[in-house]
Amino acid sequence: MKKISIKRRKLHILISAGPTKEAVDPVRYLSNHSSGKMGYALAEAAVKKGCGVTLVSGPTALKAPRGVCLVSVTTALEMRRALLGHFQKADVIFMVAAVADYRVAKIAQQKIKKKSETLTLRLIKNPDILSELGRRKKPHQILVGFAAETNKHLSHARKKLHTKNLDWIVLNDVADQKIGFGSDDNAVTLLSRTGEKIIFKKQSKKKLAGKIIREIMS
Ligand code: PMT
Repeated sequence: MKKISIKRRKLHILISAGPTKEAVDPVRYLSNHSSGKMGYALAEAAVKKGCGVTLVSGPTALKAPRGVCLVSVTTALEMRRALLGHFQKADVIFMVAAVADYRVAKIAQQKIKKKSETLTLRLIKNPDILSELGRRKKPHQILVGFAAETNKHLSHARKKLHTKNLDWIVLNDVADQKIGFGSDDNAVTLLSRTGEKIIFKKQSKKKLAGKIIREIMS
């Protein structure tokens, strides 16, 4: 399994966290339930390990952990631009953010009025940032994706691990409301490209973050 040594030199870790918000009109947006807690916990754990950390975050109510360089973004396109800008100097990349897969094709300039009984929004696909990072990845870099799944968890996560050219993927069951989105706790399965499967039982996201970091960076 691909690991990286923290003893060699100061490592640089790039982490994405939180949701993205895609505007519909000046007062409405499309988004999801990500609170940013998992990504921020990883950022804190990486700082504790002595790493330099850049955290690219969508809108959250959280305060950036001390020692972290925070880059705040709103949309998927802004997140992509920020991550590509910091990617080259990163040794390990954790893509925790819940990026909106679609954005509204044409953002209304004025508030949409409720004239008709139904309203159709045309959505266009956002770029898959993680796949793009997977294509650009250099041999020394470790790319860790997250998979938020509600069914066929393992097969969906393994497919993402391989098609997005990741070294590791952290599988999250987001159908269980006691873990995953918004909760202080999480339970995940860490899968490596070389076939390892490590199960982490329900625990605080902070504890879990330390364990994930230790597993990948020894
Ligand atoms: O923020 P919290 O409330 O603490 O919740 C944590 C979490 C549930 C958000 C987190 O643990 C998690 O599972 N994050 C992944 C969310 C997600 O979007 O998963 P996905 O299976 O849809 O995407 C797979 C991977 O592709 C993810 O690493 C995602 O960041 C990335 N992606 C997705 C879409 C897109 N357009 N670009 C991407 O890079």
